[in-house]
Amino acid sequence: MVTQVCVFRGDDAAPEAVDPVVELLEECTNGLEFVIAPVGEYASALDNGELPDPLRELIEDSETVLFGAASSRHTPVIGFLRYRYGGGTYANVRPIKWIPGAKTPLKDPTGIDYVIIRENLYGLYAGPEGDLSELSNTEQRLIETPHDKGKFAVRIMPEDPIQKLAAFACEYAQQMIDSGPVTITSATKSNVLPETDGLFDRVLEEEVNRKGNLEFEHLHADDAAQRLVTNPTRFDIIVAPNFAGDILSDLGAGTIGGLGLAPSGCYGDTVAYFEPVHGTAPDIAGQHKINPTAMLLSANMLLEYIGEDAIARELEQAVTQTYSSGEILTVDQGGSASTEEFIEALASNL
Ligand code: NAI
Ligand code: MG
Repeated sequence: MVTQVCVFRGDDAAPEAVDPVVELLEECTNGLEFVIAPVGEYASALDNGELPDPLRELIEDSETVLFGAASSRHTPVIGFLRYRYGGGTYANVRPIKWIPGAKTPLKDPTGIDYVIIRENLYGLYAGPEGDLSELSNTEQRLIETPHDKGKFAVRIMPEDPIQKLAAFACEYAQQMIDSGPVTITSATKSNVLPETDGLFDRVLEEEVNRKGNLEFEHLHADDAAQRLVTNPTRFDIIVAPNFAGDILSDLGAGTIGGLGLAPSGCYGDTVAYFEPVHGTAPDIAGQHKINPTAMLLSANMLLEYIGEDAIARELEQAVTQTYSSGEILTVDQGGSASTEEFIEALASNL
């Protein structure tokens, strides 16, 4: 039985990280077939903001998806993966774990090892935005403002996906209990957004309490941000609405050595796709110096998802060994290796 994994190389510098990682996976796995999505064949549709049927079918016929990152052509793909794939991938899991040897601005990053679970679909990112006048001109006069010019954004918090997110987070947390008690931290701004973030906190706390073997705490998201810098080892699992989760996870990435080291997986009811936390790094596109660690660790999460735990563990050990020896690292890590040279060094540690 061959398991098909669909690969979207992504835009700008993303393919430079995806290609050597997929090559490595092809060498060191059995029974997996990595199918590179033929995005170029459907360029004009994608550039018009549409996902052509053959690409959608490729995704749906595959077991799971590895995704580079999107800034332009791949935007309809990521729109599909988030909002429609399997009914929506509502839980974005972002492990923040320091690998000994990785260069970080923190004096002592020892023991940083927590997970941010970001609400992946709604909050501020599902729109719409518009003109202020549209609000003040409605019959309800939703907002009174002395300013007649300006814009607004809508922030929505539907209950069902939050409930699913909470259930997902608790299940995830329960798998960690073996190594000690687990606290789920809700990081929101319910002090100033008591309706939307208040709902988020309440649903999460109720779900945690139903489980009986997990701890719940609430931190204001801004306070959580400073604690991620001053006392990061206190955290187990942080669950956050979309916008806060986005910012907190880039911040967390910064504490363990930067965006080049932070992986992620986006999970729905019966599907998942995997992508690094970082974007397309357009400022270094074409230079073959993008750090592929985040992509590789995302691929590792993918391997775990499809039950290939043994090879995932081996790959993780090779990553750890490569950073501990510190001889061959990419430019963001103070080294001078190209993306390909880094992967080669890592492969020799397998
Ligand atoms: P970015 O994450 O692409 O880059 C931020 C900075 O970090 C840049 O200086 C970049 O060179 C550096 N960087 C990122 N990943 C790196 C890596 N693996 N190795 C070495 N350096 C790395 O974020 P930015 O610049 O805000 O966004 C660029 C584009 O990516 C935008 O169009 C944005 O919308 C898109 N984006 C896409 C995402 C996705 O598809 N999931 C996620 C985040 C951003
Ligand atoms: Mg981000």
